[in-house]
Amino acid sequence: MTTLIEGKTVAQKIFDNLAHEISLLEKKPSLAVIIVGDDPASKIYVNLKKKKAHELGITSQVIELDESVSEQELLKKIDSLNNDPAVNAILVQMPLPEHINPVNVIEKINPLKDVDCFHPYNIGRIATGNKSYVYPCTPKGIFRLLDFYNIPVEGKHAVVVGRSNIVGRPLAQMLLNENATVTICHSRTKNLSEITKTADILISAAGCPALIKKDMVKDGAVVIDVGINRKSDGKLCGDVDFENVKEKASFITPVPGGVGPMTICSLMCNTMDLFKLQN
Ligand code: GUN
Repeated sequence: MTTLIEGKTVAQKIFDNLAHEISLLEKKPSLAVIIVGDDPASKIYVNLKKKKAHELGITSQVIELDESVSEQELLKKIDSLNNDPAVNAILVQMPLPEHINPVNVIEKINPLKDVDCFHPYNIGRIATGNKSYVYPCTPKGIFRLLDFYNIPVEGKHAVVVGRSNIVGRPLAQMLLNENATVTICHSRTKNLSEITKTADILISAAGCPALIKKDMVKDGAVVIDVGINRKSDGKLCGDVDFENVKEKASFITPVPGGVGPMTICSLMCNTMDLFKLQN
């Protein structure tokens, strides 16, 4: 039997608890989002974050900067948010225009306000097996799903496909910290299917439609699909050939409605965690 991992439902439960917790607070958590330029996808994401924050009772501000803003100006803005005690969490929407070095921007954010968990200090804490102020949103969301469905990680072979700084790398470190045996695969991996076939937990974050086919999955594996790809008909699809793979998996996430809703959920939880840390 295959269980569908319903991220949308799990996220809603967490939102309900979070909204209740925030309603009891006199002072509310506060999130500042910086967006540079007018990338349409970024605008949609930022609006979603603003709307969700509002629904939960989180104070939010969106700072819109012109595409031509200098790196120095942006760093100055971050500095003023770092020094503003009314701001608990800072997010700079990526990607940034080419003339701005994202490394400088990420490293400017006070690690105590780094709601994305992009700062090398926070990522380094995780990489050295220590507790961090926060955890990256998508990996944290995946852990919440595994936890909700009582899926143990310890001693399991977890195969992560994809090595991005946002998902693959930190996720692999977090799985290792929970005593999984971890393999990271990527676009240059040889014999991908030989490796994925040995996974107890297979997580694909490659951004490649239908990369993971039925014959690449072990019977009874837990399959987590982080991919959000747009098909030619405009519909979303993941990295996993869902209809066929679901016949083999013990647990599987759909796209949409699986991992996706958990990412924004983690962002809101991180805002709350940073608020608590600072108060
Ligand atoms: N752009 C796409 N995803 C993200 C994210 O999780 N955080 C930020 N800051 N920018 C993004």
